[in-house]
Amino acid sequence: MKIKRVAVAGFGNVGKGVIEVLLQGQIPELKLEKIVVKHPNKVRPFTVEPNLIVTDFSQVVQDPNIDIVVEVMGGTKDAASLILSALRNGKDIATANKAVITQHGNEIFSLATDLGRTIGLRGTFVGCNALIHDLSLSRKSIHKIYAILNGTCNYILSHMARTGISFEQVLREAQEKGYAEADASDDIDGVDTARKIQILLGIISNTYNIPPEIPCEGIRNVTMQDIQYAKELGYAIKLLGIIEREDGSITVFVRPALIPHGTLLASVEDANNAIELENDLGVVSGLVAPGAGTYPTTVAIINDLLDIAHGAALMMPTSNTPVVLNDIGNIRGRYYLRLTVKDQPGVLAQITRILGDHDISLASVIQKEWAPAEAVPLVMTTHQVKERELRAALEKMDQLEVVKAKTMVINILEGGSQQPALIR
Ligand SMILES: NC(=O)c1ccc[n+]([C@@H]2O[C@H](COP(=O)([O-])OP(=O)(O)OC[C@H]3O[C@@H](n4cnc5c(N)ncnc54)[C@H](OP(=O)(O)O)[C@@H]3O)[C@@H](O)[C@H]2O)c1
Repeated sequence: MKIKRVAVAGFGNVGKGVIEVLLQGQIPELKLEKIVVKHPNKVRPFTVEPNLIVTDFSQVVQDPNIDIVVEVMGGTKDAASLILSALRNGKDIATANKAVITQHGNEIFSLATDLGRTIGLRGTFVGCNALIHDLSLSRKSIHKIYAILNGTCNYILSHMARTGISFEQVLREAQEKGYAEADASDDIDGVDTARKIQILLGIISNTYNIPPEIPCEGIRNVTMQDIQYAKELGYAIKLLGIIEREDGSITVFVRPALIPHGTLLASVEDANNAIELENDLGVVSGLVAPGAGTYPTTVAIINDLLDIAHGAALMMPTSNTPVVLNDIGNIRGRYYLRLTVKDQPGVLAQITRILGDHDISLASVIQKEWAPAEAVPLVMTTHQVKERELRAALEKMDQLEVVKAKTMVINILEGGSQQPALIR
């Protein structure tokens, strides 16, 4: 057995877990050789031999005694520079850094492929990394991926549904308890989910030439009203990352969606992540797992290190074939609409006329009795409709004098674990 000597760049939330496990010495094929930090005098959660610590990552990159570099520094510029020079110096990489992979993936994967080196990516999508072998065995046959990939969003949405507390208040509480970062915009605006779904898209398509942007909408506009109406209609609201492959066309997006109660994804609570994969035979497999945190991320990285040590093939994209995405306007699906309308007779007739003009039929309409008010909610769900038609109708509806605010639109996921289908 050849021992692989490992350098860990980063001694923060993730790095401390990886360092702790390596120092326990229970994995004979891995030996911790160096730790890179920015602030050498910072108090650490446990003491390490001072000669392990360096502050200049070129000392690691140029050290012939190091075989693998674990990049858990975060950020993009230094992380990309570390990864690229480590590859050039003959080292393999394991990283948990989504941002560097989505921004510099082209350069990193093409260099790794040219040099015959490997990049471990499990740490970038912690919550579903245990399905990596399903992804690798059935890369071509995966038809659909529906995934909850951001713990902060899932915590906020499931907490709102349980307690009836508003989005702003739950976010504040999550920040106070340390579940959400002080600046949580990458999480709540869907950016973090989009990065993870881009990485998964690269893996199942075996290419690093994926679009830099995918259609992405976060949960900022989801209100308590939406969650309550969804509940009445039999659904939970979750932020989903979605990949659908059908007849050579690929649809990818990140959006909140109404998911039927009683399905795997609807049952995912708190900061957990989940994924459902459907193959070309319609077989669905799923997994619920913690999506972040020191030890879940450590386990993901250690599994990459073991694969590298054992010479196992790692799941990384190796081709430059461009992925062309289906225009989101082409998708067909069902939608939840929450309009804010003037409380007066004839409003419904004006709205249904526009919907009718666009061939959009309604599955349900909910208008409750409210105390007299300037504007009241009017909730509708549609049957199957092409998104482009729906958006055209909404543009006209939102210009009506009786519509007082931008209409909230959320996709409805039908079927769930047995038969997930957002798009038909
Ligand atoms: N936290 C999670 O649960 C989680 C889960 C999955 C993926 N990730 C990803 O993992 C990465 C690390 O996250 P984290 O939460 O562990 O971050 P963190 O707590 O901020 O730790 C970052 C570490 O990197 C070191 N560092 C930063 N820039 C450096 C530089 N230029 N040179 C040398 N050392 C540098 C810092 O050194 P000092 O300590 O000396 O300041 C610190 O130890 C990020 O890409 C993140 O997105 C995190």
